[in-house]
Amino acid sequence: MEQSPRPAHCLVFPYPMQGHINPMHQFSKTLVSKGIKVTLVTTKFLSKSFQQLSGSMPVETISDGFEGGYASAESLEAYFSKFKKIGSETLTKLIEKLNATGFPVDCIVYDAMMTWVLDVVKSFGLVSAIFFTQSCAVDNIYYHVKKGLINVPVENRVSLSGLSVLEPLDMPSFVHNPGLYPGLLDIMVNQFSDIDKVDWVLCNTFYKLEEEVIEWMSKQLRLRAIGPTILRKCLNNQKTREDDTDNGLQMFKPNTDAYMNWLNEQQDHSVIYVSFGSLAELNAEQMQELAYGIKQSGKHFLWVVRASEEGKLPKGFVEETSAKGIVVQWCSQMEVLAHKALGCFVTHCGWNSTLEALCLGVPMVAVPIWTDQRTNAKFVADVWRMGVRVDTDKNGVFKGEIVGHCIREVMDGEKGKEVKTTSKKWMDMAREAVKEGGSSDISINEFVASLTQHYK
Ligand code: UDX
Repeated sequence: MEQSPRPAHCLVFPYPMQGHINPMHQFSKTLVSKGIKVTLVTTKFLSKSFQQLSGSMPVETISDGFEGGYASAESLEAYFSKFKKIGSETLTKLIEKLNATGFPVDCIVYDAMMTWVLDVVKSFGLVSAIFFTQSCAVDNIYYHVKKGLINVPVENRVSLSGLSVLEPLDMPSFVHNPGLYPGLLDIMVNQFSDIDKVDWVLCNTFYKLEEEVIEWMSKQLRLRAIGPTILRKCLNNQKTREDDTDNGLQMFKPNTDAYMNWLNEQQDHSVIYVSFGSLAELNAEQMQELAYGIKQSGKHFLWVVRASEEGKLPKGFVEETSAKGIVVQWCSQMEVLAHKALGCFVTHCGWNSTLEALCLGVPMVAVPIWTDQRTNAKFVADVWRMGVRVDTDKNGVFKGEIVGHCIREVMDGEKGKEVKTTSKKWMDMAREAVKEGGSSDISINEFVASLTQHYK
C-alpha cells in the first residue's frame, strides 16, 4: 500500500519578545491550517514566562546563553553576540534531534532580527524564510540605510523609493536619533545582511495597505506580504471566548479579567482603550501627561499599565478616576479591541497593535514613543487616515492636553466620523487579504507549495 506523504516540517523561530512572538505564532497557525507541521522555537528562559503554551503546536527550546534572558546581559551587543554563538549551537542540536526522531526539518522561518539563523539553515540544506515583523515601509527605510542611500542621522525631509516624502520625525527613532539607542540601528540594518541568499522574504503586511512600497521591495528582495497575522478568531469576526479560547502566547498575565465585566457594563463605542504594548517604558513626565490627557478627555477608559510601570502612575490617579475607568497590568488586547464598548485606541502604534486595531476597525489616537512607532503613526494619521497623531518630540515627549483633545476629536468630532469610515474600509480590506484567494493567502499558498516540493 502506498504511504501517504508526510507533511512538510517547518520550525518557526521568533525573536524572544512579545511583539515578535505574536505575529509569528499566528503565522504558524495559518501554516498548520494548510497542512504544514510546525514546531515553534523559543529560548528556555522565555518558555518559562509564557502564560499559555501553544496548545496543539509543539514548542522546542534552545538557549540564548543567558539564565535570565535579555535582562541578565550586560549590554544589547553582549546579548546579540552570545545569542548568535549559543543559539547557533543549540539550534543545530535541536535540528539534529528532530531529524533523528522521525520529524526531519524542511524549513526554518526565522525572525529578521536573527540573521545568524541563515548559516544554520544552509548547513542543513533547508529552505530559509526570513520573517519581518514590522511594516514594509519601515523595512524599506532600514534597507535604504543598509544600501547607503540615506545618511544617518536623518536631518532633512527625504523622499524614498516606494514611499511618500517623510520628515525626519516620521522615520524610526533609530534613524533620526541613533545616539539615544546605541546598537539598535545596527541590528535593524543587519536584517538585510545576506538577504539575497534567503529563499523566502515574508512581511507581516498586506498588499493594499502598502501597495507601492511592497511593489518596490518585491523587486529588490522578492518580498511577499503575508499578513496581517493576527488572532484568526478576530479576523473571522468570532468575537467571544466561547468561539475560540486561544488568546495567543502571553508573556504577561492579566492581574484580573474583571475588565471584561466592566466593559460589558459600558455603552457601545464609549470607552477609550489605552495601551503602549509590551516594551515601551514611559518616564514619569510622559506618564503624568498621558494620565492628564485621559482624565481631561472626560471619557470612560481601560488603561494597561504593566506591573513594572505602575510606580510611575500619578499619585491618587486610580482612586480619583475610579468612577470613570480602570487600570490593569495586562489584558487580552484582541478581546478588548473587539468589544462593542470600544470607541478608540490610544496607542503607541507598535506594528502589532496598529494591525490589530486596523483589523477590528477601531480608530486610533497615535502617541508614538520610539522605534518604528513614529513611522506607523505617520501612516495611520496621514496616509491611511485611521486616526489622529499626537505630536511627540524626538525624545517621545508630548502634551497631555493634546492627548485629551485628540481623544475628543476621534470620539465626538467631525474628524472622528471620517476616521471611523476609513477604519471600517481598512478592516474590510485586511479581512479580504487573508481570506481564501486573498492576496496574502495566495502568497502563503505559494510558500506552502514550495515546501511540499522541497522534500519530495
Ligand atoms: C515592539 C515594538 O515596540 C513595536 O513597535 C514593534 O513593531 C514590535 O515590537 P510592542 O511595543 O510590544 O512591540 O508593541 P506591539 O507591536 O503593538 O505588540 C504588543 C502586543 O502585545 C500586541 O500583539 C498586543 O495585542 C499585545 N498586548 C498588549 C496584549 O495582549 N495585552 C496587553 O495588555 C498589551
